[in-house]
Amino acid sequence: MPNSSRKAKLVIITLTGLLLSPLAISHFDDKQIPQSYRQSWFAMLATNFGPMVAMVKGDIPWQENEMAAYADELAAVTTLDVMRGFSDGSQKGTTRAKPEIWQNKPDFQAKMDDLDTAVAALQIVANQGTDRKAIAAGVAATGKACKACHDEYKAKDYLY
Ligand code: HEC
Repeated sequence: MPNSSRKAKLVIITLTGLLLSPLAISHFDDKQIPQSYRQSWFAMLATNFGPMVAMVKGDIPWQENEMAAYADELAAVTTLDVMRGFSDGSQKGTTRAKPEIWQNKPDFQAKMDDLDTAVAALQIVANQGTDRKAIAAGVAATGKACKACHDEYKAKDYLY
């Protein structure tokens, strides 16, 4: 299969996954800028991380160059300061962000820092390209960082 049609296939698989995923219910509301900002940021994380997980699971073919590209984009997303999207007063609105975040900012920030650390390590191994076990471990560690925060600070449904 030529590379471009592979790419197209991957895009279709990725989009299908996102459309079907309840996680992908993202929105943009010009009255809720911080909420939209953070939700868009998480959607960018998921758009890059989702295919990496799918490759590790074998749901889509593992391609080293794609894995590295997703890891680079994931790392690029983490350079944006998402904490701006958790400004005071943005507890309300269309959100799954639990109020505990605002009562516990240092712990929330620490969990964000754990994500940055995991993503930075994943970017390094993914760009080395060859050690699939190490890449899979990096993907798992990153997934753990997502989950550690979601378990505590993200509601399953919209709160307000
Ligand atoms: C430090 C905490 C934290 C970390 C780390 C974290 N998340 Fe989240 N995530 C949240 C919170 C809080 C929300 C809810 C935001 C809202 O609804 O305002 C959220 C929402 C989301 C959403 C839904 C966005 C939307 O459209 O409403 C997705 C998708 C998501 N996260 C994916 C991820 C992925 C993938 C990772 C890891 C690569 C990750 N998150 C890491 C806290 C975190």
